[in-house]
Amino acid sequence: MLATKLSRPLLNFSVKALNFKDPGNGLRPMQRFCLPLLSSCGSRSYASEVDQIGSRAVLITGCDSGFGFVLAKHLHAKGFVIYDKGEGGSKELDSMNSDRMRTVQLNVCDSKEVDRAVEHVSSSLEDPEKGLWGLVNNAGISTFGEVEFTSMDTYMEVAEVNLWGTVRTTKAFLPLIRRSKGRVVNISSMMGRMGSPARSPYCITKFGVEAFSDCLRYEMQAPGVMVSIVEPGNFIAATNLYSPERIKAICAKTMGRKYFDEQVSKMETYCKQRLHRHLASHRERDHALTSTTPYTRYHPMDYYWWLRMQIMTHMPAAISDRLYVY
Ligand SMILES: NC(=O)c1ccc[n+]([C@@H]2O[C@H](COP(=O)([O-])OP(=O)(O)OC[C@H]3O[C@@H](n4cnc5c(N)ncnc54)[C@H](OP(=O)(O)O)[C@@H]3O)[C@@H](O)[C@H]2O)c1
Repeated sequence: MLATKLSRPLLNFSVKALNFKDPGNGLRPMQRFCLPLLSSCGSRSYASEVDQIGSRAVLITGCDSGFGFVLAKHLHAKGFVIYDKGEGGSKELDSMNSDRMRTVQLNVCDSKEVDRAVEHVSSSLEDPEKGLWGLVNNAGISTFGEVEFTSMDTYMEVAEVNLWGTVRTTKAFLPLIRRSKGRVVNISSMMGRMGSPARSPYCITKFGVEAFSDCLRYEMQAPGVMVSIVEPGNFIAATNLYSPERIKAICAKTMGRKYFDEQVSKMETYCKQRLHRHLASHRERDHALTSTTPYTRYHPMDYYWWLRMQIMTHMPAAISDRLYVY
């Protein structure tokens, strides 16, 4: 009810008041601001696309399942050359037997493997001089647990993949991306914009990805590389981020039966909430890679999370905490 009350004044907000010019992306009409309230929060109006897609290559980290898998298939169907995870990766991607679906062994936590992946990609590009068009830093893991009961090892394990993996892979591939004046797309999360109880190990990594992406975007403006951030909402039911076994294993590592049962039940509710059986959000990643005017941030999420994120990030904590946390 509160969400309905708060969304009405926003809908009535003067169109002229928000019609301003974005120096990076040109005119951004009011329609784009309103869309999250009027239709699916992931919807965007589509600007013109880059040309010669067939000669452009994109590397996606973490393609075995979830968002990465859907995006790899989607971009491949559009004509891109895709580099995805090799041996042990998705059988479905391997079985495509397409010369545009190329495998590369890439554990984002292993510097040597990342360096080898750079060599492999640069030597197998049709025209290495043109470089790599896109890097999608999608690989990620998640966990939950209250600060007091979460070990430092857990914090470091999540950061190693989500944050340092993103930094390591980006640094390594940036020279190739620069050559093509290409795109870096970093998969963050709505949890990279607002904190949540029992999510600190995950949130801090995604806040880090946001900061890293902003700094990189400023630095890359002159060389002509565009950097976008995708902040998905809750798509857990459609990906492997939290399997039931993983939830139980995480809880078992923490405290006592009561805490265990409470956390399992909370996380099961969260995982069932707002079921997204389809991963529509590949559209945002597609837009970030193919549009001539990609946005800085994309928000594929439903109304509830979109509104909650706006309130948590724009209103004083005294109000937003009362609404959503306590
Ligand atoms: N699902 C959601 O609701 C949601 C919401 C917001 C943001 N996200 C973000 O979206 C991204 C994709 O997650 P997902 O939901 O699609 O989950 P997912 O199905 O579990 O996919 C994650 C992928 O990352 C790979 N990965 C994990 N560790 C890796 C490493 N060290 N090196 C290379 N690849 C690694 C996994 O491969 P293996 O299985 O082989 O390890 C898997 O293919 C993540 O960054 C996640 O934080 C997800």
